Amino acid sequence: MKTDLSVRIGSLHLKNPVMVASGTFGYAEEFKDFLDLRQLGAVVTKTVTLKPRSGNPSPRTCETPSGMLNSIGLENPGLEVFLKTKLPFAAKLGIPLIVSIASESDPQEFVELACRLERVKSVSALELNISCPNVKHAGAATALISQDPAATKAVVRSVRKVSTKTIITKLSPNVTDIVPIAQAAQAGGSDAIALINTLTGMCIDVRRRRSRIAMPVGGLSGPAVRPVAVRMVWEVYRKIKIPIIGMGGIIDTFSALEFLIAGAAAISVGTANFVDPAVSGRIIAGLKEYALENKIASVRSLTGSIVKPCVQPKK
Ligand code: FUM
Repeated sequence: MKTDLSVRIGSLHLKNPVMVASGTFGYAEEFKDFLDLRQLGAVVTKTVTLKPRSGNPSPRTCETPSGMLNSIGLENPGLEVFLKTKLPFAAKLGIPLIVSIASESDPQEFVELACRLERVKSVSALELNISCPNVKHAGAATALISQDPAATKAVVRSVRKVSTKTIITKLSPNVTDIVPIAQAAQAGGSDAIALINTLTGMCIDVRRRRSRIAMPVGGLSGPAVRPVAVRMVWEVYRKIKIPIIGMGGIIDTFSALEFLIAGAAAISVGTANFVDPAVSGRIIAGLKEYALENKIASVRSLTGSIVKPCVQPKK
């Protein structure tokens, strides 16, 4: 029996549903010695802003129980240097290349980035990072956009007007109800939703009575957040029509399957890349094996295939 691992996200055709999450895989070249990058479903770059950013003060990461706290602050070389020095390698891989973009202060920067990238053929899609919890400008965090349905819809709509590329909107889990935010992104014209960015958290060194990272608050990722992420994918899947890319603590085939079964069309591997840079390749092989063992003709049939609970959630 043959099994089909391919999935569609907007106009993108992915040969399998395994992507790598923004900010955990550099610009792909950094991982070239660890796995065959061409086997990936797609690559998502580290977030790019219009101007270069040096990021937040160090220390910027620390380990937590089953996870990691980060406050990198969107360090990146800025769009110009990205296009000249980072993009060419990833563009040659022959797999969909998704560029993550963010504004620093004015949401209009999303539009300018989208306009500039519209002319770049090798860029297949834009991931709108409206959910980074670590960048504050004049008191406003980028994440605030994704905490407000109207602001989310406005940003997505403004990018949709200038871009013909597939638009993926990455949402924050730091909200009371994720569903209206996902619906707002869909209403603005997003082709897909990426769920979830990091959960805000703190870690204290009790001997020094200081935060273990330089910024007091950071974003928590890794297996510790997985149940939250799976729950949000499941909640959103039932209420929107566009595909979901699930992420948050995926470390192996079974954790990837949790997201697909909850409702994700594709998944992104994030923090696990820091532990095992070749893990995505193993997850692709594992999905194939699972599909064959369970006589699943297409991985697409797994999306949202969770058995209905005995107690139905309220509409
Ligand atoms: O601090 C950071 O660069 C994190 C970005 C994000 O979570 O989107």
